[in-house]
Amino acid sequence: MRMMRGHLETLQDMTYLLSRHEYEKAAAVAEEGLGMSSAEMHFKMYVGKYLPRDMRAQGKRMHEAASHFAKVARNAAKGDALDKALAAMAKVVKQCVACHSAYRVRRSED
Ligand code: HEC
Repeated sequence: MRMMRGHLETLQDMTYLLSRHEYEKAAAVAEEGLGMSSAEMHFKMYVGKYLPRDMRAQGKRMHEAASHFAKVARNAAKGDALDKALAAMAKVVKQCVACHSAYRVRRSED
């Protein structure tokens, strides 16, 4: 859950940085916090290895979407339109939503 709250913070940072047209920073934050470069660390340090295979695949799609965002945001830094970065951002959030609607942690009170 700590990792998840970190994800939300990363999204917040990405949105804020986009609003300030700080594309390189938005890309770096996304790649570091959610992109493929964070995937291995999440896998080792957190829950990755305990996840069912389909859920892990869902997580991977999110990491890929975040790395894609980083690429698009870097292009935005070179003058590409902001709407492309926002569209890529929406795809990242879509992966969060997809996983949340499919999976729950089972708690003892459930
Ligand atoms: C691979 C699946 C998966 C992906 C992808 C995923 N989450 Fe989660 N997340 C979960 C699960 C499972 C829970 C626990 C939900 C429950 O049991 O109620 C959770 C819980 C959370 C929580 C609640 C934490 C708390 O303290 O209660 C937040 C916030 C959150 N996720 C944010 C995000 C954000 C933001 C993203 C996308 C950047 C994301 N998650 C992507 C599976 C995922």
